[in-house]
Amino acid sequence: MAATLRLITKDDLERIMNWRMSERVTKYMNTNPKLTLEGQEKWFDSLEGNDKVRNWIIEVNGAPAGLINLADIDWEKGTTSWGYYIGENDKRSLKLAVSLEMSLYDYCFDVLGFNEVHNEVFKLNEGVWKLHIACGCKVVKEVVGEVEKEGVAYDIVHLSMERNEWFKIREKKKYEKINFDVFEGIMGGVTVHHIGVAVADIKKSVESFKNFGWVCDGEIIKDSSRSVNLAFLKRRNSNEILELVSPINEQSPVFDMLNANKNVALPYHICYEVKDIDKTVDTLKSRNYILVEKPKPAIAFQHRQVAFLLNRDSGLLELLEERK
Ligand code: NI
Repeated sequence: MAATLRLITKDDLERIMNWRMSERVTKYMNTNPKLTLEGQEKWFDSLEGNDKVRNWIIEVNGAPAGLINLADIDWEKGTTSWGYYIGENDKRSLKLAVSLEMSLYDYCFDVLGFNEVHNEVFKLNEGVWKLHIACGCKVVKEVVGEVEKEGVAYDIVHLSMERNEWFKIREKKKYEKINFDVFEGIMGGVTVHHIGVAVADIKKSVESFKNFGWVCDGEIIKDSSRSVNLAFLKRRNSNEILELVSPINEQSPVFDMLNANKNVALPYHICYEVKDIDKTVDTLKSRNYILVEKPKPAIAFQHRQVAFLLNRDSGLLELLEERK
């Protein structure tokens, strides 16, 4: 079993609809919905900008097998509800179930920094709530007849996992780790490499930043392919990096920006370090990020790949491929 996760695309909507309406999935859900493709598209559009939910397609050996999600995310309290189903019956396995559940706890507590994760299970779905208990969950309560569906009342078991509990429990657990952070470090476990600052005169700016303890790390680099001069600044006992970027000519990507800002220096991009730059670019493109510059080797980073993407709400973003 090689299980991976990825974000939902529009191409998945029909498959998800069929899974969700299948008797085997729906009998343990709170509702027996009658879904339409049109409704699915509305649902998909409603996901954008909704920070209370996250959905992933579960793939087994590269083929879509089911859906896992976080819902009712409370970012302030650090809590969320979660659930999943396997729509393809032949892909169900205990090993997959355990890997998904334990990897989800790792993601919620390590990457998202949550405090508590809970889930609700039909009492009659005994295999599943017993598995949650085996994974270390505590039963918070059982509510008799909590869900009523087509005239039948169902008992619901409420289970919970707390952050500190999980850190103790996982030491004793063996499971195949599944990566929930499909943005490879951008969605949550962020690794900021540097912040780019556009400046008109790079030498003057290097001097000016010394007032705040920033010193130039190496020489000023001329990147002719991007029509910019670059200087990397660091501070003692700190890992923070500033990248000063000044235009060589009018074709430079920072020329117009500085011109519009009366040549006053301004921060203009955040650079994140990522494991797989092509995969991250694809993922971001599917989430309304416009590819401004496709991955290409950068002279300033020992020819590691660099790409730029733009999004209205998070601005200009640089991706830098991790050192191999
Ligand atoms: Ni940069």
